[in-house]
Amino acid sequence: MASFLLTSVTVLLLSTTPGGRGSSYHKISPQLSKSLTKQEYTANVFVTFSQGTESVLATISAKSFPSRSARLDQVHDSLVSHAASTQDDTIQLLAQEGHPYKSIWITNQLYVPDATMDLVIKLASSPDVAYVSQEEVIPLHQPVYRGPVRKRGKVRPSGEWGIMKIKANEARSLLKSLGQNVSIVVSSIDTGVRGTHEALSSNWRDDGYGWYDPYDKSALPRDKDGHGTHTMGTICGSGGIGVYPEAKWMACRGCKGGCTQFALLSCAQWIACPTMANGTKRDCSKAPHVVSNSWGGGGGRNWFDRAIGVWHAAKIIPLFSNGNEGTACNTTGSPADSKNNVISVGSTTVDDALSFFSSVGPTFDGRMKPDVSAPGSNVLSASHKGDSEYQPMSGTSMACPHTAGVAAILLAGSKQEMEYDRVLQLLADGADTKSLLSGGRGCVGVTDKVFPNHQFGHGRVNAFNSLTKLIKESE
Ligand SMILES: *[C@@H]1O[C@H](CO)[C@@H](O)[C@H](O)[C@H]1NC(C)=O
Ligand SMILES: *[C@@H]1O[C@H](CO)[C@@H](O)[C@H](O)[C@H]1NC(C)=O
Ligand SMILES: *[C@@H]1O[C@H](CO)[C@@H](O)[C@H](O)[C@H]1NC(C)=O
Repeated sequence: MASFLLTSVTVLLLSTTPGGRGSSYHKISPQLSKSLTKQEYTANVFVTFSQGTESVLATISAKSFPSRSARLDQVHDSLVSHAASTQDDTIQLLAQEGHPYKSIWITNQLYVPDATMDLVIKLASSPDVAYVSQEEVIPLHQPVYRGPVRKRGKVRPSGEWGIMKIKANEARSLLKSLGQNVSIVVSSIDTGVRGTHEALSSNWRDDGYGWYDPYDKSALPRDKDGHGTHTMGTICGSGGIGVYPEAKWMACRGCKGGCTQFALLSCAQWIACPTMANGTKRDCSKAPHVVSNSWGGGGGRNWFDRAIGVWHAAKIIPLFSNGNEGTACNTTGSPADSKNNVISVGSTTVDDALSFFSSVGPTFDGRMKPDVSAPGSNVLSASHKGDSEYQPMSGTSMACPHTAGVAAILLAGSKQEMEYDRVLQLLADGADTKSLLSGGRGCVGVTDKVFPNHQFGHGRVNAFNSLTKLIKESE
């Protein structure tokens, strides 16, 4: 990281490097050049090819498939063969150099750890390569508040405040009365999950495809931070902390301290087509229906967009926390602001005001965000510290899983496979607006009293209202 200080040296180095390969320098990201100012320095890099994934995905979108798993197989298989054919020459170059690499099919990229500037220049010189950049390390959306870890104490029969506010239990009763028996699988990319926690142990999908840890390849769900146990507890924990405990869950450990680009993309691939915990026996039919993401960095960055595009092709619903950089305008983070569309979620308090930290739109290119909001201040959920320990936390990280749970309820209530647009529409149409407290704020001429707006989006989600609308519309 000391390399940040060496900008002026970089300029010198680049301007005095002998000619011949000059044309490849523009393909090397400025950040990477800054990090590799000395011959012996190395960096973890991503090689992006001129051939994207868009044409492959367009072909898939135009097709219809006899089953969900047939579609998932096609998404995986066609992207893998696309990556193999477009990466071939570059992989041969790395093999000649004896340098390790990982091929990433979901974005058609190569991950090359510990690359020197010499190697980076060779990679950039290939006509197939669009650019070479340094691996990003993305922060979790750290909770702005982590309260004391404690035993449960008195269990509220109606659930925690957020569960009550969004009428999750009313929606679950309605779902039961429909007599439908659709099994929904939810997932998160987070710090992991304490799989033995009393609120989460019974609905972990323990068929060998319920856990993946790109950092340590651990065999069973674990969480050394607490963030991921908490968010999964809110999606589907039992005992009144979770929105939809009837869902099964699976989880990928994208974050360990920070979240590396390699781990996040490995998780994105695993979500689209899961393997067993040791990375073998790929089975795309095990993909979840919903993926909840409570991580992100500053806005306007698009490095995760292709992964989101693949999730859409696979008909997996992506949700992201909007960020904890509010409440000034233009503070929505990435990938919450992705041009490829995700359901981004802002945070509300027990009084239905905007949480003081909740990030606000518009995006850098003027789109309205967040899409909806949900309870995120002082949310009690499962703790990683013990199987019967609980902890309050605050953040848009806590709001996103509430909404992921509602999305799962809607999917369970639908007779047919539901499209992303329909899920978002139902969340928006069912959201509460009248009870929300205006902060007297506004952005780009839209106040927070009219809906949708850049503070609350379409409003605070309401599972019962949205499910009721779904049922009425399908009658
Ligand atoms: C729902 O389906 C599962 C299998 O998918 C089955 O084990 C269970 O008995 C079913 N429940 C009802 C109420 O039909
Ligand atoms: C991976 O795990 C599965 C299930 O435990 C096992 O059957 C398989 O042999 C393992 N493969 C390797 C290469 O370790
Ligand atoms: C926020 O972003 C919008 C849309 O890009 C832009 O019009 C506006 O000037 C920005 N406002 C601030 C305070 O940066």
